Amino acid sequence: SEATNPGDGAGDVPVRTRAALTRRTLRADRWWIPPLFTTLGLTAFVVYATIRSFMREGYWDAEHHYLTPFYSPCLSDSCVPGSSHFGTPIGELPGFIPLAFLSLPFLLGFRLTCYYYRKAYYRSVWFAPPACAVTEPHARYTGETRLPLVVQNVHRYFFYVAFVITVINTYDAVVAFGGQRGFGIGLGNIILLVNVFFLWCYTLSCHSCRHVTGGRLKHFSKNPVRYWIWTQVSRLNVRHMQFAWITLGTLVLTDLYVWLVSTDTISDLRLLN
Ligand code: FES
Repeated sequence: SEATNPGDGAGDVPVRTRAALTRRTLRADRWWIPPLFTTLGLTAFVVYATIRSFMREGYWDAEHHYLTPFYSPCLSDSCVPGSSHFGTPIGELPGFIPLAFLSLPFLLGFRLTCYYYRKAYYRSVWFAPPACAVTEPHARYTGETRLPLVVQNVHRYFFYVAFVITVINTYDAVVAFGGQRGFGIGLGNIILLVNVFFLWCYTLSCHSCRHVTGGRLKHFSKNPVRYWIWTQVSRLNVRHMQFAWITLGTLVLTDLYVWLVSTDTISDLRLLN
């Protein structure tokens, strides 16, 4: 049948609508496995991160100066002594406000509006559609032109803030080499470093970063430095999905390690001092 496409702004262009099938899909393979695992993975991370962000314990190891990224930067008088690398310009915070309440909304926004995560949750949570050649339950399609999805267009601004927060996480990882006994290296340092390494990979491989570095250029040949940076970012960009998942894992691993060490559940494995 013929109809107009409501989402492309060319209202009078005739397009084919869906085939009149009585079944939701003719696919015989297990197409539902990727969206299922995506849902489980994202849910597990959101549950863990939410619980940890409100716990207010096990986020700073005073002996080795390990700070979990879930509480960075810690800018409140409610933060335990030593964990505030940038001072405490904010007074006491009630228990229902996470101590990293300034950075967490931006990090959440950065991930929520990320081009890869959009693909992931549009398919696995929104079912729009859940897989190729599988009918979606929604009757209409308006793309990202209306609330709430029009907010996706502010991704680049979340990128700017996330870039700064990654710099802060890097600073935290460097500070952690100087514990109470001076310079030293432990397994925690390696975990913190690996985490920030992959956070940089994820942040710099962002599509907005690619646009910031090489977008709107008319002549690459006249901008060799930006062209070189854009080329490197583009090489990272093809692995953006992997970095998105790897960083969820490294964030949880880093937080869990700092939690266990700072509560004396396990001892930090010391390699030097
Ligand atoms: Fe994924 Fe920007 S962080 S596209």
